[in-house]
Amino acid sequence: MSATPILRLGSVKNIARFKEHLRALDLSIPCDDELITGPGSPLRKPLSRHEVTIGNRICIQPMEGWDGTTDGRPTESTFRRWQRFGQSGGKLIWGGEAVAVCHEGRANPNQLVASEHAAASLARMRALLVAEHCKVTGSEDGLLIGLQLTHSGRFCRPNAHDCSEPRILYRHPLLDRRLKLPADYPVMTDGEVELIIEQFHRAAALACKLGFDFVDIKHCHGYLGHEFLSAHTRAGRYGGTFENRTRFLQEVVEGIRTQCPGLGIAVRLSAVDTVPYVPDATRSANGKLGPGIPETDERLIPYRWGFGVDPLNPQTENLDEPFQFLSLLEQLGIRLVNLTAGSPYYNPHVQRPALYPPSDGYQPPEDPLIGVARQMDMTRKLKQRFPNLVVVGSAYSYLQDFLPFVAQAAVREGWVDLVGIGRMVLTYPELLWDATEARAIDHKRICRTFSDCTTAPRKGLPSGCYPLDSYYKDSEAGMRLTQLKKSS
Ligand SMILES: Cc1cc2nc3c(=O)[nH]c(=O)nc-3n(C[C@H](O)[C@H](O)[C@H](O)COP(=O)(O)O)c2cc1C
Ligand code: SF4
Repeated sequence: MSATPILRLGSVKNIARFKEHLRALDLSIPCDDELITGPGSPLRKPLSRHEVTIGNRICIQPMEGWDGTTDGRPTESTFRRWQRFGQSGGKLIWGGEAVAVCHEGRANPNQLVASEHAAASLARMRALLVAEHCKVTGSEDGLLIGLQLTHSGRFCRPNAHDCSEPRILYRHPLLDRRLKLPADYPVMTDGEVELIIEQFHRAAALACKLGFDFVDIKHCHGYLGHEFLSAHTRAGRYGGTFENRTRFLQEVVEGIRTQCPGLGIAVRLSAVDTVPYVPDATRSANGKLGPGIPETDERLIPYRWGFGVDPLNPQTENLDEPFQFLSLLEQLGIRLVNLTAGSPYYNPHVQRPALYPPSDGYQPPEDPLIGVARQMDMTRKLKQRFPNLVVVGSAYSYLQDFLPFVAQAAVREGWVDLVGIGRMVLTYPELLWDATEARAIDHKRICRTFSDCTTAPRKGLPSGCYPLDSYYKDSEAGMRLTQLKKSS
């Protein structure tokens, strides 16, 4: 845990104090003193680059709800979430949520599946979002909606929330142990990979038919696409060299271009990573998880199981391959990239900086603002090197009341093209719209990173903001979550 107690951002009353805190932490996070409102706001400026046009700089990140039917169709809660995505006023909807390309590739038994039997309800989900968006912004002009396509790979749990059914690309010395995989657990064959590539093609064709503007070929958070990038130790066509580790992406893109030429293609990438973290058992007290510590083992150096990490010091990022990857995206004619980091399964403080840990996490090993700054800095470096790409940044929710001020500065200073909002959308979808419309900010709806939206699904319940959204708080699931938290 950080040596000094972490300052609760909710108690910081003004920008001057926030900036003082950034200086004390020696962090470089841009932050404006005043919000610019109306069409002059950097966050409301349309973006037009090559064939991509987006009506403003607000992006809604994919946020899964663990609330589909067991055969992968959306429910009323899913529809409600997509309506709220629409209410945000954001003109870039990055995939809505991770939608599996096949039943076995689901991360949970309530994940949506991109298949014909779900087609009508997926189309309804999109239509509801558009209708709400039009109510808020007045039109669909400049609205770009994607569908995030995924296979969960190592983190598949398609049939029961407590039954993991991993599909792995290589043996990982730390994650295999964590998943309790026996020594003879099978590694996916190249033939199995080829079938999954075809499933991506079919899912993309469906998304195109349903009117989505683009598909995101998910390469983040430890799921299959991301695992390919670190498949250094895998033999055959999909492992080893950079070319082989990106063959999956190349073949997915090739098929989509042939089968649905008009469909946009985007990639969400965990551009940097670190080793898995565990709670420090020696510092757990009063039923509270200990602070996160890295799982290190000298025998694993050079570290050959990460992407965007320095093999000699895997707790440090190395951008050489992320640069190469973005260069590949340009060669493939992909213009839209959404940068994120790490994984919610093995280093959540990197992926979604939070003050309060999820039930399977650990106390913050650092001030969560350091995690925000890390993702912003990485994004700035990649964006500077690739000015022709349209770059979305992630991990802003921890900034809480200061999010609009940082978002405005980040776009204004060219650190990023669009600011992507995740958890904050669950509590307060219209935050950036309110901020840019000169409406008063509703501080009671600000996400305080309690992590219940992650804890709930870890306990087999739908995700949502239990502390601040009465739809969840007052539901049966809300009462169940309270009981489960008390008893654990
Ligand atoms: C409940 C929950 C569900 C999420 N679902 C997805 C998802 O389906 N796809 C994805 O790429 N990221 C997903 N994320 C990650 C977010 O998109 C985002 O990267 C992360 O929360 C950090 O951004 P934030 O600080 O704005 O929350 C999810 C995060 C949470 C908390
Ligand atoms: S449960 Fe609500 S307040 Fe907590 S992190 Fe999730 S969205 Fe934020």
